Amino acid sequence: MVFFLFLIMQNSQLKIGVFDSGVGGLTVFKQVRELLPYESYLYFADSANAPYGNMPVDDIIQRSKKISDFFIEKGVKLIVVACNTATAAAIDWLRENYEVPFVGMEPAVKPASLMTKTGNIGILATKGTLGGKLFKEKEKIYGQYINIHYTEGKGLVEIAESSAIDSPETDSLLRSLIEPMLEKSVDHIVLGCTHYPLFKEKIQAIAGDQVTLIDPADAIARRVKDVLIQNASLCTNQNHTPLQCFSNGSDTLFKSVFYRCLGDTVPFDLSKITW
Ligand code: DGL
Repeated sequence: MVFFLFLIMQNSQLKIGVFDSGVGGLTVFKQVRELLPYESYLYFADSANAPYGNMPVDDIIQRSKKISDFFIEKGVKLIVVACNTATAAAIDWLRENYEVPFVGMEPAVKPASLMTKTGNIGILATKGTLGGKLFKEKEKIYGQYINIHYTEGKGLVEIAESSAIDSPETDSLLRSLIEPMLEKSVDHIVLGCTHYPLFKEKIQAIAGDQVTLIDPADAIARRVKDVLIQNASLCTNQNHTPLQCFSNGSDTLFKSVFYRCLGDTVPFDLSKITW
């Protein structure tokens, strides 16, 4: 019994690993950290390989495997795949091949479908996510009752990964993606890629107040908490270690998106990765 309690305590002290094809997963990390402030975290931005959107599934699985091995070596009790595209491509494989629990992104088709009054919802996501099993399953269920208008957010990940969020070109690209959905009377737009909340204010300004944007990050944070509780590995003391971030992309980009998402009150170490 004492030994069992010791194991539980040991496990709860392990970290949570969060990864994305780049800096977009920071929008998810923010929500997870807000809900679970006592946990210790590792964040990996695979920016040198972004975007994942058009990458072959096997390559995404290989990247996800490599990052998961890296986390496991450092001691993690749970991994958040803070990337819709990597979730669509790799989460089944990861769950089959590792003991550590994985929490992935859910395309938030269900909440949008339940809340729509016009019967029209918009989904903005990458090609990989829209072509994935998870989205197809949801589309099959909810598409019987409402119209789902999906749009590939072509070019948005590249913009977010090159610090060009605030530019007139970005505004006109966003208008070209959002306005056709508005013409279909959508009243909810799902942000189906973790980079897209970085454009939230701009999208809201184009869509207007009558359209609700759905970012599934807080639902993912609640799922992380539930899994930790189920596994008796929630950390309840405040001795967390400082956030460690890893990126194979530009440090300047990482920091600017980090501060944009989390402000400047969260201390973190940023290490350069060469693979
Ligand atoms: N943040 C990733 C996602 O949620 C972006 C995918 C990409 O790199 O294309 O899908």
